[in-house]
Amino acid sequence: MNVFRELITIDKHQDVPVYLQISNAIIHNIRRGTLRRGMKLPGSRELAGLLSIHRKTMLAAYDELMAQGWIEMIPRKGTFVVRDLPDIKPKKIKAGEDVGQYPTKTLFAIDEKSIVHFPQGNFPDPNILCINDGFPDIRLAPTELFLREFRSLARLRAYKKYYQYGSAKGPTYLRETLAPYLSDTRGLPITPANVLVTKGAQMGIYLTARLLIKPGDNVVVGEPSYFAATRTFQHVGAQILRVPVDENGMDVEALERLCKKKRIRLIYVIPHHHHPTTVTLPPDRRIRLLELAAHYKFAIIEDDYDYDFHYASNPILPMASLDHHGNVIYIGTLSKTLAPSIRVGFMVAPENFINAAAHLRRAMDWQGDSMMEVAIAELYRNGVMGRHIKKVVKIYHERRDHFCQLMKDSLGEKVTFKIPDGGMSIWTTFNSGKLTQIAEKAAKKGLVFADGTLYNTHKTDYNASRMGFASLQLKEQEKAIAILSEVLS
Ligand SMILES: Cc1ncc(COP(=O)(O)O)c(C=O)c1O
Repeated sequence: MNVFRELITIDKHQDVPVYLQISNAIIHNIRRGTLRRGMKLPGSRELAGLLSIHRKTMLAAYDELMAQGWIEMIPRKGTFVVRDLPDIKPKKIKAGEDVGQYPTKTLFAIDEKSIVHFPQGNFPDPNILCINDGFPDIRLAPTELFLREFRSLARLRAYKKYYQYGSAKGPTYLRETLAPYLSDTRGLPITPANVLVTKGAQMGIYLTARLLIKPGDNVVVGEPSYFAATRTFQHVGAQILRVPVDENGMDVEALERLCKKKRIRLIYVIPHHHHPTTVTLPPDRRIRLLELAAHYKFAIIEDDYDYDFHYASNPILPMASLDHHGNVIYIGTLSKTLAPSIRVGFMVAPENFINAAAHLRRAMDWQGDSMMEVAIAELYRNGVMGRHIKKVVKIYHERRDHFCQLMKDSLGEKVTFKIPDGGMSIWTTFNSGKLTQIAEKAAKKGLVFADGTLYNTHKTDYNASRMGFASLQLKEQEKAIAILSEVLS
């Protein structure tokens, strides 16, 4: 019977209780055929002795196995593996052998052609020097103050409320915080009924796409535009039409010409610091867009992901703050304001749309993380968020200027860029050499940055990249540009 010592390993430091470790090990060995159907098992006292555990623990393990139907107790005869288990071929195992492999492929087919591919987030080690796509410097995030809010929620026993299932629209407390905040700071004439708390901007884009687009519907995006939004629209079957983006954002006259020819269901606009080009849509184009939306009855997604970070002046008021006949779905996020991994964003829309989106959200994600969302509401209410934004805008402004100066001085004619009014990156065109090769060479010298392929469309290879300056301190910027300069020369 010593074989049981080999078949069952117990680790008292594991979180799994010992009796479950034993019953799981026995099930595993029945499954692989090492313990055969009808086989007599040692008595609980004997097995407890062999495994050096208390007999009560062994009885609990046997009870568990009986409850699950793996073993049976026959009075005056003993404990047996049940007879009517499916046929399993015995297999020899060695001590310490691992539990085998999960299948690497499904037996059923997956239509590979129907997958719309999204980047899977293979970001480099955070210690490697990286010019990213335009992310915030997470070292500046008010982490301690954020954690303090979490801790105090637990102290107040609020967790009893916020650990429960809650609304698909997000906690009332956060929606009652965001509605007046967005009214005061962005001129949105809204109440909490107009707000749905999302997991970042991406969820708002997806919910809107799913609700509005039927396969074959025409959706207009910029040439170029934010790849993740375009892919989301394609994912739900949209026909993508592109309108040029110039130094003032989407060309609304070209859009009007298109509207005259085709029926448009939705247009996707990034009004501040357009992705990827970083240009800002001026007020006259915003107003014209709204007129076109009212006339041609299309919906607008206004993705204002970067609203807080405008350096040239105050940000321009969103289209959603103007008269829009209910045509605008306004989307915001804290990915840039706090950190990309804090998956909190918001969607602002007429109430009927918010209700429909809340129902749809349930199908994929029952609700957000209430504790986190309430902690964030506190950051808005106690002024931490306001102070944080003010602080980082100043820092990023300085970093933008420093980075642009470095590129001008060290890279000269080899690149072309325009200083953006805000945001966290510089749209930089490389004038000599293929960007894919330049990025590869830079990586070998210790600098990682996007090789530009994500920003290309089927029409155009821009040979350009978004050079994220915000997350790099001035010295880090100098190091990064020095490497780039070396690669380009
Ligand atoms: C145009 C645009 N929208 C939205 C986002 C952010 O999305 P999320 O809030 O899901 O992180 C980004 C991120 O870079 C973006 O560039």
